[in-house]
Amino acid sequence: MSKRFSIFYSLLLLFFGSTALLPLVTGDLAGDRQALLDFLNNITHTRSLAWNASSPVCATWPGVTCDKDGTRVTALHLPGASLLGVIPSGTIGRLSELQILSLRSNGLQGPFPIDFLQLKKLKAISLSNNRFSGPLPSDYATWTNLAVLDLFGNRFNGSIPAGFANLTGLVSLNLAQNSFSGEIPDLNLSGLRRLNFSNNKLTGLIPKSLERFGNSAFSGNNLIYENVPPPMASPEEKPKEKRGIYLSEPAVLGIAIGGCFVIFFLIAVLIIICYVKRKRRQATETETKPEKLKPAKANPQKLPSVKEVSKLGKEKNIEDMEDKSEINRVIFFEGSNLAFNLEDLLKASAEFLGKGSFGMTYKAILEDSKVVAVKRVKDVVVSRKDFKHQMEIVGNIRHENVAPLRAYVCSKEEKLMVYDYYPTGSLYTLLHGKNGSDEGHDPLNWETRLRFMIGVAKGLAHIHTQHKLAHGNIKSSNVFLNSQGYGCISETGLAVLTNPVTNQIMRRDPSARPVLHYRAPEATDTRRLTPESDVYGFGILLLETLTGKSSMDNEKEADSLVSWVNFVVKHEWTGEVFDLELIKTPNVEAKLLQMLNLGLDCAERAPAKRLEMVKVAETLEKIESD
Ligand SMILES: *[C@@H]1O[C@H](CO)[C@@H](O)[C@H](O)[C@H]1NC(C)=O
Ligand SMILES: *[C@@H]1O[C@H](CO)[C@@H](O)[C@H](O)[C@H]1NC(C)=O
Ligand SMILES: *[C@@H]1O[C@H](CO)[C@@H](O)[C@H](O)[C@H]1NC(C)=O
Ligand SMILES: *[C@@H]1O[C@H](CO)[C@@H](O)[C@H](O)[C@H]1NC(C)=O
Ligand SMILES: *[C@@H]1O[C@H](CO)[C@@H](O)[C@H](O)[C@H]1NC(C)=O
Ligand SMILES: *[C@@H]1O[C@H](CO)[C@@H](O)[C@H](O)[C@H]1NC(C)=O
Repeated sequence: MSKRFSIFYSLLLLFFGSTALLPLVTGDLAGDRQALLDFLNNITHTRSLAWNASSPVCATWPGVTCDKDGTRVTALHLPGASLLGVIPSGTIGRLSELQILSLRSNGLQGPFPIDFLQLKKLKAISLSNNRFSGPLPSDYATWTNLAVLDLFGNRFNGSIPAGFANLTGLVSLNLAQNSFSGEIPDLNLSGLRRLNFSNNKLTGLIPKSLERFGNSAFSGNNLIYENVPPPMASPEEKPKEKRGIYLSEPAVLGIAIGGCFVIFFLIAVLIIICYVKRKRRQATETETKPEKLKPAKANPQKLPSVKEVSKLGKEKNIEDMEDKSEINRVIFFEGSNLAFNLEDLLKASAEFLGKGSFGMTYKAILEDSKVVAVKRVKDVVVSRKDFKHQMEIVGNIRHENVAPLRAYVCSKEEKLMVYDYYPTGSLYTLLHGKNGSDEGHDPLNWETRLRFMIGVAKGLAHIHTQHKLAHGNIKSSNVFLNSQGYGCISETGLAVLTNPVTNQIMRRDPSARPVLHYRAPEATDTRRLTPESDVYGFGILLLETLTGKSSMDNEKEADSLVSWVNFVVKHEWTGEVFDLELIKTPNVEAKLLQMLNLGLDCAERAPAKRLEMVKVAETLEKIESD
């Protein structure tokens, strides 16, 4: 009897228990909703956040994301939402299922919101670009899932907490542009892939465990840099290598004699080649001997002049290219309505525009007030004949998304190329400001960015399919807006003319930013550039356009941008990579994601896996028309 009663009682309990549990589950969402409202009602927000108390949280509140079942709030994205003042405690800290929290680029202040440490599910948090101040808390044992911690650009001070060592899942840590002081703790975080401590007041040594992030992650502090050479070429290793191959004495003797013979033979061949070349050069130099040009100064008023200039400027015939008398001729391509000779060009008032992979570019105003861009190509490694041949190929490309080469000069002293001048400037200047300083320029809007990319994709698709040509130098400073407001690519086909070694030297020259194109991992020699490596370059360009990040001076950083974006996509932190200007644009989120994935597909490591430019262009045009 009592047993039966107990079963009945249990069933009763189960029944009531489950019905009682139901409101508890929805109660959590209601609790999340109330927490959000409490947050909103107690903080100044000038741009109205349309969180309507009588409409559903998960479906309609901007910036709020729920789990699949719509039972809990899991992400809160409020970048650039004009939130001002101190975060009321016990509001956001109550969203106990929260995984993603972005409050970047607001006007939030006060101490670190200590109750955020109760958010045990948190995977990524950004408080960057606010006015938070004071020291950080010391204990992070609750944030076991945290992968991204971004406190960039605040006024936090005190020391970097040793408790960060407990953030074992951390992948990205950005504390740059704060006032952290003291020594850097030895954080043994093996999963960490991105780190930036720059522009603080840190002192002492960089811990061994963090040295792999390079000096740029620590610049703008008072740190001591230890320049210990890596223990690679230790003397003990060399004898070991030698022991690898054993040869008998006769074999050594044979190789020595054979080697000597080969060397003699090579020297003889070299001497003959030099002799023949010299004879040829003497033949071409007898009639015109122009004076040596002064090296181009950083900011010349005019392009340095040549005294002896032939007056054959208006010739449009390009036959007899090797004719000695035409050495200083300006060779025009069909469709150019320009008429000038080299003298005019060198007399024109010139304004230095920039230094690129192939030399300086000037804006030149001709006598008839026409404006052109003149590129002075340096370190040409091909013969004049090959140079002219390449000019012929490039000059005859006519496509609205390829900046037309209007004319060129190929003398012994000067290799000049004349292009249209684009007054709006390159994508690089439009994205990052004139000197990459990011200051004093209006953010580039979404439509223009998309049109830039459509144009570049179509231009590349054209040269790949119609001309069987790779561009070889895709980067934002080579991309301009054509008259229809779409992107067009400049410097097509120049990569094959110059020495890859030059690029390497120039890369180290900080004044030459941005110099390097986004070179694909397999492209170690510029002359082996392929359409696939252009696709890689385009992928990085697309990521740069979406993220607004320009810090890509070398392959390593471009590579790290790719792996970072990959990580971000995998971990639902996507909203955080986009440039703020794009986040603020209504109704483009899905398109942004589509483009981000397109960029990643282009930047695949394996060349064979990358998309074809024609496909990329089609996809982008579809994104535009949708
Ligand atoms: C914030 O506003 C809510 C009203 O939504 C109010 O009930 C609450 O007490 C306020 N204060 C805090 C700290 O949440
Ligand atoms: C909130 O939503 C309800 C119904 O969804 C609507 O009637 C009301 O006008 C909305 N309030 C505001 C302030 O938008
Ligand atoms: C941190 O900044 C606060 C002012 O915001 C100041 O009172 C405090 O002394 C600073 N602490 C350190 C260690 O610099
Ligand atoms: C990590 O967390 C544990 C548990 O709270 C704590 O005992 C330990 O001191 C923490 N480690 C550091 C380096 O703070
Ligand atoms: C660093 O952490 C790894 C595992 O995360 C561990 O194997 C290693 O011993 C640690 N090194 C130090 C110096 O604590
Ligand atoms: C670190 O942040 C600074 C700004 O403080 C930035 O200029 C630099 O490029 C960043 N470095 C890395 C490696 O992200």
